[in-house]
Amino acid sequence: MGDTVAIRIENLSKTFGRRAKRRVHAVKNISLEIQTGQVYGFLGPNGAGKTTTIRMLLDLIRPTTGDAYIYDRHVRREHDVLRRVGALVEGAAFYNFLTGRKNLEVLARTANDYDPIRIEMLLAQVGLAHRADQRVNGYSTGMKQRLGLAAALLGDPDLLILDEPTNGLDPGGMHEVREFVRNLADEHGKTVFLSSHLLGEIEQVCDRVAIINLGEIVREGAVQDLLEGKTHLRVEAAPLDKAAAILGEFWPVTTNTQWLTISAARDDAPHMVRRLVENGVDVFQITSQRQTLEEYFLSVVREGTGDA
Ligand SMILES: Nc1ncnc2c1ncn2[C@@H]1O[C@H](COP(=O)(O)OP(=O)(O)OP(=O)(O)O)[C@@H](O)[C@H]1O
Ligand SMILES: [Mg+2]
Repeated sequence: MGDTVAIRIENLSKTFGRRAKRRVHAVKNISLEIQTGQVYGFLGPNGAGKTTTIRMLLDLIRPTTGDAYIYDRHVRREHDVLRRVGALVEGAAFYNFLTGRKNLEVLARTANDYDPIRIEMLLAQVGLAHRADQRVNGYSTGMKQRLGLAAALLGDPDLLILDEPTNGLDPGGMHEVREFVRNLADEHGKTVFLSSHLLGEIEQVCDRVAIINLGEIVREGAVQDLLEGKTHLRVEAAPLDKAAAILGEFWPVTTNTQWLTISAARDDAPHMVRRLVENGVDVFQITSQRQTLEEYFLSVVREGTGDA
């Protein structure tokens, strides 16, 4: 053990299609480093390149350029390192005519690691115990997703790579999976790399996040840091146009018919109130509003498409 870096991606690219017309640059020269013990989010809209990156990490497809390392082992050249990885990738395939439990048993036996007690425990952990003896072809999308999660955990991996783990789950199920993932890191010291297009989800469960758009990493950092300094204040005052003129000398102001939105910190509020009152403006309310990761995400994604 003693690993500090779980995943290292260096200048990874993937281009699909040989003919120029059909060519898709799904992943463009991305580099990332994920420390052990973290829950790391890979956030991006549909088609951003999340699954493609994950497939390269798991050696399911070959990168066009660049390298992926897990625990400092090159995943293509030292494929064995993937034994330390549990993965859930888009559209996990099971034997439909077998029960959930039997599917896990087959997987465990294939890996030469069959332990009925562990399977029982995993089924309970993913909330599938009561349906474990039903055939998979009778499972809902959410139940298959839960089974996929149990399958990823079978070999008690150090690193979990989960592609949209809450896909197809209802709000209660999503909450359970989030708690479950957080617990894997906090209580069991696992590292989790998960992709999502759900911003609230990343905000709730991840320590760090990389935002990917159109195959490129557009931001990377601790979730808290990305949001820091992104507060704005909403000012309700009358007359509003006069308030806008006064505050506009000091801060960027946007106006609508009822309030002003000002890019400033909460600490600026007393100063604002003084300036307004000294100039005969009535202040009704000033509230500070933290930008959610969602707003932030939309703003960086728009920047990327030149749509801002
Ligand atoms: N096998 C393939 N052949 C051609 N193009 C592909 C292939 N796989 C993915 N792509 C393209 O690569 C881009 C990235 O796809 P990818 O599946 O990695 O996105 P994603 O971020 O996982 O999106 P989603 O949130 O919809 O799952 C898309 O434009 C997609 O159409
Ligand atoms: Mg995907």
